[in-house]
Amino acid sequence: MCGFIKDKTPKAVARRKRIVLTSFAILLASVVLLPLGGYLYSGLSAQAAAEEQTNPRANYWRAVRQGNTGYTAVMGQETNTLIQNGGQNWRQWRNGPVANISPWFLALVLLSLGLLFLLRGTMKIEGTLSGRTVTRYNVAERVIHWYVAILFIILTITGLSLLFGRAVLIPILGYSGFSDWANFSILLHNYLGPFFTVGVVLAVIAWIKDNIPTATDWQWFKEGVGGILAKGKHPHAERFNAGEKVFVFWLGLIVLGAIVSITGFMLIGWIGEQMRATMQLVNVIHAVASIVWIGIICGHIYLGLATEGALQGMTRGQVSEEWAKQHHDLWYKQAKKG
Ligand code: HEM
Repeated sequence: MCGFIKDKTPKAVARRKRIVLTSFAILLASVVLLPLGGYLYSGLSAQAAAEEQTNPRANYWRAVRQGNTGYTAVMGQETNTLIQNGGQNWRQWRNGPVANISPWFLALVLLSLGLLFLLRGTMKIEGTLSGRTVTRYNVAERVIHWYVAILFIILTITGLSLLFGRAVLIPILGYSGFSDWANFSILLHNYLGPFFTVGVVLAVIAWIKDNIPTATDWQWFKEGVGGILAKGKHPHAERFNAGEKVFVFWLGLIVLGAIVSITGFMLIGWIGEQMRATMQLVNVIHAVASIVWIGIICGHIYLGLATEGALQGMTRGQVSEEWAKQHHDLWYKQAKKG
């Protein structure tokens, strides 16, 4: 190297000059051109993104989103499920039709009951009361009824808080207030649910024999649903009338009781495996069945309160003879025979 610099011949000096100039030119070109590489990179990425439409790898992930399975290192209930896409569908169902239609359904129920009250008012016992009473419910029946009724009301409040809380309670309680209430609600709901099911089973055992449909019930419906809108009209009825049998007992306790209890047990993990896809479906079924049941019970509570003398049966166990003759004449005759 030193020998190379010491060479002072004109040829060698010209060569050294050429090397220095070329190096300088390369350096200059690099300084100017290398930063432009960013533009080149982003240009190519845009092209890559455009190509992604037809990129087989993008199509692969698209298929995964639609539920195609693959291999996952994590072992468990959802082994080989690469993306559990149902969550999005569930969210759309729960926050869409379920959360939007059910308030309208409940509002319609309350509106109809309000209308019934305007048309019919409270349903008074006709004639003067003799003071004589007849036993309608024994202690066990009354304890079962109020046990089920109280739990139903608590489960309704906590369940509706969880379903509509985001829309209705966050504006009132704020985020942290709602968070505390939601945590308390889910705890209460999950613990009391199984106790409620026990009550439903006991109520079914207590009343199934008096809720078997008979020809009288058909006639009761034909005579204007028990003559509900006609003052003074009292179609024949046994211990329970056709409306109580169909809506409160069979549709309520048996059908909806089974659906709500089974889906509830699935949600807390007492029945079946807690697979997310199943839980999502079960959650929607649980919510819809509960809302229908709440609607029916609103009607039941209204009639229990608006029919003069009915509540006494469930509080004291006794009803007036006049009430019994007017609302459950066939049962009254049986009860009198002893
Ligand atoms: C505050 C709430 C409630 C009130 C005021 C109420 C009132 C009444 C009254 C007055 C009766 C007697 C009707 C008669 O003697 O013909 C009755 C019966 C009955 N109630 Fe309730 N109830 C309430 C909640 C519930 C709930 C939540 C359920 C079930 C989930 C329920 C299920 C029943 C059943 C099964 C009967 C016997 C009628 C039949 O088997 O068809 N009740 N209730």
